[in-house]
Amino acid sequence: MAPTMTELAELTELRQRIKRIPGLDAAALEAEQIALLGRKGGAITELLKRLPALPPDQRKALGATLNELKLSATALLDARKQELDAARRARAEAVDLTMPARRRWTGAEHPVTRVTDEVLGIFRELGFAVVIGPEVETDWYNFTALNVPADHPAMDMHDTLYLDAPPVEEAPGSGRLLLRTHTSPVQIRTLLTSRPPIRAVMPGWVYRNDPFDPSHAPAFSQIEGLAVDDGISFVDLKATLIHFARRFFSDDTKVRFRPSFFPFTEPSAEMDVGCRICGGVGCPTCKGTGWTEILGCGMVHPNVLRAGGVDPERYTGFAFGMGPHRVTMQRHGIPDIRLLYEGDMRFLTQFLPDSSRGRRGEP
Ligand code: PHE
Repeated sequence: MAPTMTELAELTELRQRIKRIPGLDAAALEAEQIALLGRKGGAITELLKRLPALPPDQRKALGATLNELKLSATALLDARKQELDAARRARAEAVDLTMPARRRWTGAEHPVTRVTDEVLGIFRELGFAVVIGPEVETDWYNFTALNVPADHPAMDMHDTLYLDAPPVEEAPGSGRLLLRTHTSPVQIRTLLTSRPPIRAVMPGWVYRNDPFDPSHAPAFSQIEGLAVDDGISFVDLKATLIHFARRFFSDDTKVRFRPSFFPFTEPSAEMDVGCRICGGVGCPTCKGTGWTEILGCGMVHPNVLRAGGVDPERYTGFAFGMGPHRVTMQRHGIPDIRLLYEGDMRFLTQFLPDSSRGRRGEP
């Protein structure tokens, strides 16, 4: 027996409702799921419940149709549900382009590194090349070739950190291994490997057996300078270093040279700049003098030129050595050198330029 007219009308209506499933919103979808397949009162469920009462041939035909409708309804409901879930997830993850970015901390140059780069930059403008030398040297490079006599107090065990290693045998430079106590040995290396005219700046770490205190550290940096050519005089030295001080600090920086002594220069001097912290009236950092020493300098000693293979009858030169840690303290008014070694970001970020701080975000 064929399905009755009512059943046919019901089936047609069911087919249309199933077709509309892909257009339902979340709430309607849930309601429709119950309305079609709910265990009590679901339209398909209820029709299926009527099957056992039907004659076998009708039961078979209607049963097949209902199963097919149930399957397609289930499939469409599932598919639509997944579609709506995916859309909801995408909305939840959506990027709010108006939200301020959380900046990532990428680190920054240490203030001493910045000062070093700036100092080197000023000398590069003047035609100086940047030269690097080793931190482990022999006593020949660090002392002997620099005209430092064997009984000089600087060679004392208390100042110099010697390596527990066999001495170097081959010349030039044979001798005991040590951590260089200054960057001046790079003068010798430069003289031995190039010929005048020479203009070089030589940055690097140096080591001394000193305790940490507000103005000393067992490891610190230096920048060595060397110019060797025909007819270089003390005037060239002064003019170069005064230019440097004005360029680095400011045009109105006061500069003075005081006579001094170094075994590797003759005559020797120390250069002071007017204290940046107190403006020259005297403060604890300049020990009340109004001046701070920033470098040692002088005319290269003939023995040093000779040790470097340069004829002192033909050439003269000047040399200087400055301490970027000192210069950094002077520039920023930092009273204790140890602050530059602690790596405390709260301290270090103060010296970042504003532009860099903004770009890098806060630590
Ligand atoms: N080497 C010296 C020091 O460490 C500095 C210096 C370098 C002085 C070059 C004169 C010339 O104190």
